[in-house]
Amino acid sequence: MRAVRNLDFDTALKEAEQRYVRANGRSQARHEKAKGSLPGGNTRAVLYYPPFPVALDRGEGCHVWDLDGKRYADFVCEYSAGLYGHTDPVIREAVIEALGKGIVLGAPNRYEAQLSELLVQRFPALDLVRFCNSGTEANIMALSTARAVTGRPKIMVFREGYHGGVLTYAHGGSVLNVPFPLVFADYNDIDGTIAAIRKHKDELAAVIIEPMMAGGGCIPGDPAFMSALRDETERHGIVLIFDEVVTSRLSPRGLQGVLGITPDMMSIGKYLGGGLSFGAFGGAVRIMERFDPTKPNAFSHGGTFNNAVLTMAAGAAGLSRVFTPEAALVLNKRGDRLRTRLQKSIAARDVPMTVVGVGSVMNIHFVRGPVRTPKDLEGARPNWLKLLQLELLQRGQYMTSRGMLALSLPMTDQVVDEFAAAVEGFIDDYADLLRAA
Ligand SMILES: Cc1ncc(COP(=O)(O)O)c(C=O)c1O
Repeated sequence: MRAVRNLDFDTALKEAEQRYVRANGRSQARHEKAKGSLPGGNTRAVLYYPPFPVALDRGEGCHVWDLDGKRYADFVCEYSAGLYGHTDPVIREAVIEALGKGIVLGAPNRYEAQLSELLVQRFPALDLVRFCNSGTEANIMALSTARAVTGRPKIMVFREGYHGGVLTYAHGGSVLNVPFPLVFADYNDIDGTIAAIRKHKDELAAVIIEPMMAGGGCIPGDPAFMSALRDETERHGIVLIFDEVVTSRLSPRGLQGVLGITPDMMSIGKYLGGGLSFGAFGGAVRIMERFDPTKPNAFSHGGTFNNAVLTMAAGAAGLSRVFTPEAALVLNKRGDRLRTRLQKSIAARDVPMTVVGVGSVMNIHFVRGPVRTPKDLEGARPNWLKLLQLELLQRGQYMTSRGMLALSLPMTDQVVDEFAAAVEGFIDDYADLLRAA
């Protein structure tokens, strides 16, 4: 145990930051140089944290190395998109094979219908699917489609929800958001949500929801809430869209499979492109057939890289040969085991922390649980997350600055246990300060 008992929190954080700066000279130099051409040295909001983010040089399996040569177990897992890890041999082989045959073919290629077929087989909501380039784009397309097929303008979203860079509803939303007319509701609040749907039913095109609010803190959707949402949207002809960009990996059939609820549409992204940029949206035939170019008045949906050869090849190889339904079960069980261990350690040490999530994706919060809605996180302490991240980095564990973590397929029980031991070591070091917080 380190001698941190007599420190106050601010001194402890400052001291951890100083150690971080000393250990990461090359990341700091990179950051300084990047500021000359990227605003604040950054091109992706979540990857900035003060004083500067650690920059990575390479990855192998479930590990990454920073510019100063330090190795970390990668629990950032590219915000869940790094499901296959960094060097999966099947994916590498698929990409190299595709690479050898030309990467900008400008025509239907041999891979896209392989991937679409695999997706349609896997996810109950998908009768038909269209590809795009990111989860954000998938959600914009799904929402626009819902507005076009219903002829209604409004979208219901949930406070603190995140559906992409221009579809973010945390802290009241972003000035950069796509200007859809919105109706806000509270996640897991059955009565309030149903009342809002009834009030706006004639104007509501869609309700978009994650079956586990990932960016909002990995808060699982309550089955009774999700089921009430399904019934009420169906009653009023409102398109129910599940954003499963993150949650599709949480069971062999996504969280819709666990809940036994089939939405009208769903969006996917992240790992389903095998680690390359990817997005897709799809749903019931009655909606998606509107994109059939042989039909009169078909919706036109373009996108130069919608069927990008490398993405299609990597995605199809990964889903058919690596992330099989069996692999999904094993991975998510491993995640459940980690969450259970951490919860027990937190309870035994009686500190104001909790871990929430489903299967292989979860979030550590500095608040006493239970966390059922974003409101339960209002008293959480972001500065403690910062200290945790700095201390975990020093212990060789790479975790996001917001406390979200995800497991990847190459992780063994040992790698996961080492992460848990690092968190436990942190709690032991700071237990007195934590209890006083
Ligand atoms: C639930 C959810 N939807 C959509 C997106 C957007 O995906 P992308 O970053 O590929 O645009 C994200 C990204 O983190 C997400 O977590």
